Amino acid sequence: MEAVKIVLPEEEIPKVWYNILSDLPVPLDPPLHPATKQPIGPDDLAPLFPRELILQEVSRERWIEIPKPVRDIYRLWRPTPLYRARRLEETLKTPAHIYYKYEGVSPAGSHKPNTAVAQAFFNKIEGTRRLTTETGAGQWGSALAMACRLFDLECTVYMVRVSYQQKPYRRVIMETWGAEVLSSPSDRTRAGRSILETDPDSPGSLGIAISEAVEDAATHDDTKYSLGSVLNHVLLHQTVIGLEAKRQMEIVGEAPDVVIACCGGGSNLAGLSFPFLADKFKGSKIRVVAVEPAACPTLTKGKYLYDFGDTAATTPLIKMYTLGHGFIPPGIHAGGLRYHGDAPTICALYHHGYLEAVAYHQNPVFEAAVLFARTEGIVPAPESAHAIRKAIDEAIEAREAGEKRVILFNLSGHGHFDLKAYEEYLGGKLKDFTYPEEEINRAMADLATLQP
Ligand SMILES: Cc1ncc(COP(=O)(O)O)c(C=O)c1O
Repeated sequence: MEAVKIVLPEEEIPKVWYNILSDLPVPLDPPLHPATKQPIGPDDLAPLFPRELILQEVSRERWIEIPKPVRDIYRLWRPTPLYRARRLEETLKTPAHIYYKYEGVSPAGSHKPNTAVAQAFFNKIEGTRRLTTETGAGQWGSALAMACRLFDLECTVYMVRVSYQQKPYRRVIMETWGAEVLSSPSDRTRAGRSILETDPDSPGSLGIAISEAVEDAATHDDTKYSLGSVLNHVLLHQTVIGLEAKRQMEIVGEAPDVVIACCGGGSNLAGLSFPFLADKFKGSKIRVVAVEPAACPTLTKGKYLYDFGDTAATTPLIKMYTLGHGFIPPGIHAGGLRYHGDAPTICALYHHGYLEAVAYHQNPVFEAAVLFARTEGIVPAPESAHAIRKAIDEAIEAREAGEKRVILFNLSGHGHFDLKAYEEYLGGKLKDFTYPEEEINRAMADLATLQP
């Protein structure tokens, strides 16, 4: 009988993370201090992050050991299963083989705990008392809330207002793990108050929530900040996904022709694809595709420039594809994809042709999500459904070309807290936002002065 799910024993949880910086065949421009336009050093990051995470951020070691307490917590849900989507394949009548790595089995419901647990651990051993963070969809905030509880840290989550309203139960699950959750923009920080003064009805954005969480950490000595995506060390921690997936593909004796993931800041894409990209750097023909929302099309329509990581312009300048830090994306349901930039490594790889990117509107994404739920059973997170859309399109292309194609995508989370979005879609009420060209042009106008 051919396998539907490929499950590894706990002993096969990776013992090391894969650091792509050791193999990167393209230049990576350093983060810059906004005032001096000089590269920042570890000391500049010390108020926000513990030493070990700063070292990981700049490390060029290929393999970085996963500490035992982190692996012990990973055992609660890792290794995650790899599925062959046989029912979806049959429905699509495609000769393609579709595989998905399912990260929604984590207690928080997504891939985010892979890094949340690691970050909480390194903070704990260096004496941090409290962590602050932002959350878009609520998945990241949930992951950090859980990780903080497991290491006995306090946790403050700035939750983007539109998600706070759309997903009240995400707030409750974070509170159940003991976190404090604030709707962002909030009146707790200067950054939040200044946005509320000019726009009391602001839907919020990841960029604004980051500004608030960074300010909160920077103004309290016992508090550090934790980011759910974008930074090198976050992407590093996520490589457990791809390392396991590679082993699972070996077991079934197949190798993916194309690896697909949605891209908000780039961490689940990096997590699945970086271990496979290591082979591409050595000549393998594998394709890697980032999928983003048409309402926030960072890679497909942004420019490769230095920009701030947050809306209030408080972070270092990062070289990335950006839509402008002042751009506030429309309130699509894939809240985790509403970010104006992307991880610098993802951007550099895309710029140099190692990655492809595609953007979809939310209605075709939900159409794919519902087809997936009705064939494979799992109700996906709206973010992950972007990857499903592309996987289905690849499978249809393979059918039309009459070729076998091995497709692997990341099902980064489940959508059990996103049912309002499904209700709107099923009721025919889900809106597709046209590309907000004018707003993006306005946000991009400021960037010229930020370049070195
Ligand atoms: C389920 C899920 N997938 C994907 C993402 C996008 O983030 P990233 O691109 O860092 O994986 C998010 C972000 O919140 C998420 O919740």
